[in-house]
Amino acid sequence: MGWSGREAAPLGVFARRASAFADALLALLARVRRVRIAVLNGVNLDVLDRRDATHYGGLTLSDLESRIYAWSKEFECTTRCRQTNHEGQFIDWCHDALDWADGVILNPGAWSHYSYAIRDAVELFKAPVVEVHLSKIEAREEWRRVSVIGDLATKRVSGEGPEGYRTAIEFLASKR
Ligand code: DQA
Repeated sequence: MGWSGREAAPLGVFARRASAFADALLALLARVRRVRIAVLNGVNLDVLDRRDATHYGGLTLSDLESRIYAWSKEFECTTRCRQTNHEGQFIDWCHDALDWADGVILNPGAWSHYSYAIRDAVELFKAPVVEVHLSKIEAREEWRRVSVIGDLATKRVSGEGPEGYRTAIEFLASKR
């Protein structure tokens, strides 16, 4: 049995329309909301400018982070950069990012090659994870060619220098 314009619509019809409207609104909000990105740099990246410039380019961590923030702005993301030399701190920040980040960029430095504790933390992410290395780890010493988080990463970037972080941000922004 149908209902004419004059009669009151059954409650179920209103409920379905309201729910479809709410779904459309939520989908729209998800598209316009800025993607939140956690950037975690690990051990020895605080002294980037003192390390071998042929691999790391000679820029300071602060230069690198300024570029990351500029690229985030370009891709309309909200980004938080952190660096630590302490593995437990790095893991705590991974746990923290579980609660708010839409995407994660990780450069754990040398931990990438052997830290199963960091691997276990990375395994918890449901959000996409991009593993970034400034240098081309695949073309360096044997021990650097192994990454214990590599198979967990949604995307891996190495050998692009600072631009690798731009590639990562662009990738995460495209996932919104
Ligand atoms: C690095 C590569 C690692 O092998 C190294 O231990 C680093 C930096 C990179 O960004 O190229 O500390 O992760």
